[in-house]
Amino acid sequence: MAGFYEAISKKAKGIVYDLGTGSGILSSWAAPNSELVYAVEINKSIAERARANLKDLDNIEVICADATKLSFSKKADVIICEMLDTALIDEEQIPVLNSVRKYLKDGGITIPYGIINCIEPVQVETEYICYEEDGHPQNRVLGEPLFYSRINFLSYTATTFKEYLDIKIKTSGIVSGVKITTFTLITNNIICGPTPMLNSPLIIPVERTNVYSGDELQLYLSYEMGGGLGSVRARIKKIHSRS
Ligand SMILES: C[S@@+](CC[C@H](N)C(=O)[O-])C[C@H]1O[C@@H](n2cnc3c(N)ncnc32)[C@H](O)[C@@H]1O
Repeated sequence: MAGFYEAISKKAKGIVYDLGTGSGILSSWAAPNSELVYAVEINKSIAERARANLKDLDNIEVICADATKLSFSKKADVIICEMLDTALIDEEQIPVLNSVRKYLKDGGITIPYGIINCIEPVQVETEYICYEEDGHPQNRVLGEPLFYSRINFLSYTATTFKEYLDIKIKTSGIVSGVKITTFTLITNNIICGPTPMLNSPLIIPVERTNVYSGDELQLYLSYEMGGGLGSVRARIKKIHSRS
């Protein structure tokens, strides 16, 4: 929240959209230096709560609507969109920005402006895809982190991610999962790693595979950004053994 506060209080100006405003907190930080803030929220009762929270700030208009279906009458200098989730799978950040980006003025900015995803092979006991919270489920990292994707919110991003990734093993053990960690690029000099509230690392089980230091695995990973955790598929196979 401190990172978002610093970015918004320094950079919000002119016409601002806050997409997925929730309680309205980010709009309230944008209002003092902006001409007008459109705070958009799809959920009716949440939008009513935002309206109540923001009632004393007369340059904020709360709009209860699906941001992907809205036509805005004024273009934005700044688009704030905090519908973040690990690898952007379980929230609508990408579909929403893909539809609204055309309303951003030339030279306009988004807050945050992107994310970086990293993946690691882990030894873990879980049959289900889950978030790592307070160190649970316990997991042992067996390989090098691979920074496998970087997304810039100013550019169109296909919602489907589908790739084969090469993973290097550093420690012997049994690979039974992969862990995705997402770093949020709030501004050029504010990068936020996972916190219990924002983008906890995601653990995805894979076939149990005995590995030794120096082995290389090929991981097939696919998911739909905005498609939910049910869209995730992951398979591994050993492509190179140390001996
Ligand atoms: C993770 S919450 C973030 C709330 C707020 N931005 C914050 O930082 O506290 C995402 C919000 O986006 C809203 N939302 C999801 N999809 C939306 C859409 N298509 N259009 C507008 N709001 C949406 C959800 O109802 C939820 O309130």
